[in-house]
Amino acid sequence: MDYDLLVIGAGPGGYHAAIRGAQLGLKVACAEMGAVGGVCLNIGCIPTKALLHAGETMAASRHANEFGMTFAAPSMDISKLNGWKDGIVKKLTGGVSGLFRANKVTHLTGQASFVDAHTVKVGEHTVTATSIIIATGSEPAALKGLDVDQKFIVDSTGALDMPDPIPTRLLCVGGGVIGFEFAHIYNNLGSKVKIIEFLPNIIPGADADAVKEFGKAMSKQGIEIVTRTKANSARVVGNEVQVEIENVETGEKTVETFDRVLVAVGRRPRTAGLNLEAAGLLVTERGFIEANRKMQTSVPHIFAVGDVAGNPMLAHKAMKEGLVAAEVAAGKPSEQDAVAIPGVVYTSPELAWVGLTEQEAKDHGYKVKTGVFPMSASGRAMTLQSTDGFVKMVVEEGSDLLLGVHIVGPHASDMLGEASLALEMAATASDVALTIHAHPTLGEAVLEAAEAVHKQAIHIINR
Ligand code: NAI
Repeated sequence: MDYDLLVIGAGPGGYHAAIRGAQLGLKVACAEMGAVGGVCLNIGCIPTKALLHAGETMAASRHANEFGMTFAAPSMDISKLNGWKDGIVKKLTGGVSGLFRANKVTHLTGQASFVDAHTVKVGEHTVTATSIIIATGSEPAALKGLDVDQKFIVDSTGALDMPDPIPTRLLCVGGGVIGFEFAHIYNNLGSKVKIIEFLPNIIPGADADAVKEFGKAMSKQGIEIVTRTKANSARVVGNEVQVEIENVETGEKTVETFDRVLVAVGRRPRTAGLNLEAAGLLVTERGFIEANRKMQTSVPHIFAVGDVAGNPMLAHKAMKEGLVAAEVAAGKPSEQDAVAIPGVVYTSPELAWVGLTEQEAKDHGYKVKTGVFPMSASGRAMTLQSTDGFVKMVVEEGSDLLLGVHIVGPHASDMLGEASLALEMAATASDVALTIHAHPTLGEAVLEAAEAVHKQAIHIINR
């Protein structure tokens, strides 16, 4: 064999797998047809966070007059904004390449295609490997009737390219994570944004109370949210897009005009061109490559990790699975046994959660208690001018075991680290409540939510 381990794809799942494999003494190659870093670093997590920060800076300049600071209306150099964002991406992808070199991971450039279960063609070259990890990720799902041209009708990739001027009217089709992050960016930068969502609720998978609070905060900032609504078709006319929008309950159709339309209706696993059959692999009806807790596919020396291996399609889940697969390939007894996978919408306020929603806990048969602490009662949140939201803790009655934590608020994603660790360590609400949290911090809201479970929060009236 040319290599002990061949990793296909250098996104978060793939590059973690390649580096961990090398750390464990394997001779590793990583095949990538695009840029190292995958969707996350190049056209996903990282550039969106850069734009979110720019948008929030704009919003902060507007809100500063509350404490007596008035700025002139900010002007925007869009090409500088795009350049700054691209610079961050370049630095990070360069960093991954550097880590490959430092760990002696061979980077093979080209599209990978199986010849047989141990042989893969990468571009012009054919390589053999004892173990193979498929980490090919996902791509935006298409929506019939809305043809993405990446100018007027864009997916998450096109939406990253900020046009000059910023579109006056933006429609986001899909009220999921991508829809809201971009809605927030464009809204803060000056667009009038409308989100249409097919289902009765936005942000699939999140706790109903948290979603309600989050939706309220987004509406307050001027984002129009319409549920039970879909887009049937979109037509570019001159510099505008005419979209046929349908209320799925009444069947009523209207045509509305926008300057840009974002299609964000989910993602689908990417396996095209891999020639999986040659390796003896099949995909599920929804296109995923199934894997067990050791991330092994039906062919045990071939692993699948990240988006291509199933939902949730999150970089941190891919990273964990990549580490597990590499460790198993190196003969370690690893498994993907995470108690819970955190989820975050990086708007302001953020929506962040880990573990079971209240409804999921009930559906699992738990007797549930909850504790809620509003950010409006947090001194630190007040000093940050960000008092929308709350921390909600879902706990099993009797045992006091923590089942889920749902946060809407500033820096909710950072507060979530404590909640994730607490769940992973099977902490009780009392464990959290007995832990001293620095004052004044946003994290105190997590402590107070744990106290609220026992009706002993100090800074609210416990009912
Ligand atoms: P999503 O699945 O989160 O949301 C898509 C939404 O579109 C759903 O609510 C769905 O009901 C709705 N929808 C579907 N068809 C529709 C139609 N015809 N008209 C109106 N609404 C329609 O998918 P999204 O937002 O595209 O994100 C894709 C994946 O990327 C997700 O798995 C997400 O977890 C991941 N992601 C995660 C991020 C994060 O962790 N911060 C950021 C961006 C993406």
